[in-house]
Amino acid sequence: MGEKVKIGLLGRGTVGSAFEELLGERADAIAASTGKTPEISGVLNTSSGDFDQILADSDVIVELIGGIEPARESVLAALSQGKAVITANKQLVAQHGEELFAAAREHGAQLRFEAAVAGAIPIVRVISESVGEIEIDRVYGIVNGTTNFILTEMARTGASYEDALADAKELGYAESDPTDDVTGADAAAKMAILARLAFGFSVDLADVACEGIEEIRPDDLAYAKELGLSLKLLGVAERSADGVSVSVFPCFLYPGHPLAPVEGAFNAVTLFAPQINEITLSGPGAGGPETASAVLGDLVSVLSGGSPLPPEASPANMATDRSSAFYLHLEVADQPGVLASVAEVLGRHGISVRSVVQRGLGEDARLVMVMHEVPEKDFAAAVDELGKLDFMRSAPRSIRVIEEEARP
Ligand SMILES: NC(=O)c1ccc[n+]([C@@H]2O[C@H](COP(=O)([O-])OP(=O)(O)OC[C@H]3O[C@@H](n4cnc5c(N)ncnc54)[C@H](OP(=O)(O)O)[C@@H]3O)[C@@H](O)[C@H]2O)c1
Repeated sequence: MGEKVKIGLLGRGTVGSAFEELLGERADAIAASTGKTPEISGVLNTSSGDFDQILADSDVIVELIGGIEPARESVLAALSQGKAVITANKQLVAQHGEELFAAAREHGAQLRFEAAVAGAIPIVRVISESVGEIEIDRVYGIVNGTTNFILTEMARTGASYEDALADAKELGYAESDPTDDVTGADAAAKMAILARLAFGFSVDLADVACEGIEEIRPDDLAYAKELGLSLKLLGVAERSADGVSVSVFPCFLYPGHPLAPVEGAFNAVTLFAPQINEITLSGPGAGGPETASAVLGDLVSVLSGGSPLPPEASPANMATDRSSAFYLHLEVADQPGVLASVAEVLGRHGISVRSVVQRGLGEDARLVMVMHEVPEKDFAAAVDELGKLDFMRSAPRSIRVIEEEARP
């Protein structure tokens, strides 16, 4: 049925094998809608397949190896022959996107990478095409399912970070080496890609400020619950008069925030722009069949004539001075005057308190406060000063808070 299109599959692991299976199931339907019948013409893995032969035999290359090399060289080789490439490789697109886009442009080749960000959620297409001509101001993303699962479990059961991580591994939500997930590096790569697409500036991964979830304690989550807050590892990309800022950090959200209800291994991305107010998409951010469905969507797009490449971009001017609201957790001696001293330090740095929870702990007390938005450097200076006060029983702990709640 229709013209045959040969697909070279690089990598047949979790996503590659799910893609192969899904393609087998959906080939007739794809032929009916595009007039082209896709079929796998060769498969490369570590022990079998010859890349040059696969490339020569293929019309489209689907790269599902992961990592930078040999994925980068293979993708560039395919693009330089004008062949369409589909990849799910976030590190490759985040670190070498401009090189790949340039090669695709030069040789008139298509390059699709929907599955590289937020798995099954079609966020790349929505940013690049659906709202492509609108100036997006901000992108918020829960783009790492492993960390969202861990934080959800810690909040739900009171488990420690270590126990929740062990559960995530047992249930297959975390890899045996979860470093890239828990340090925020995986989310940083995805946010760099989203910022590039949303703002039209290239973002160097090294400029993405990144904090992970390893230091989060169960009592932070317990107190936050009392304050009506939920904790997420959030990616934030913003454009302002000062430039672009892209960062990943754990932060609390109020219940009215569109990302507050996103729990477990799910991902979600919110786009903000005056013309669209706010759009949130949520869904599975990983998994073989889920990710393969995004790869298959890219294949259908390629077979249907393709979609535009991101326009050429100059490097982003990165904004450095950020403001944020904060949660502050202090363990102090339970003695008169402590609260007044804390308030004095905060006031001197222009920090105003939105809510406070105080608990006795034998001879000590805990003060848990939520502050209104303040320049981050002023907050850091205040915390530094608080940490030196003689009634402080341990180092102050702070976590950012996103203040906005309801949709405007
Ligand atoms: N897993 C997910 O849920 C998910 C979600 C979104 C995006 N992704 C992305 O999808 C891509 C694939 O992930 P995955 O989870 O499917 O990985 P995976 O299970 O580790 O599979 C990788 C595949 O690539 C092959 N491979 C590795 N190095 C190779 C090399 N040097 N030469 C040739 N073949 C090589 C492996 O061969 P062997 O079979 O011989 O080991 C295996 O077939 C990555 O870019 C990942 O970031 C994955």
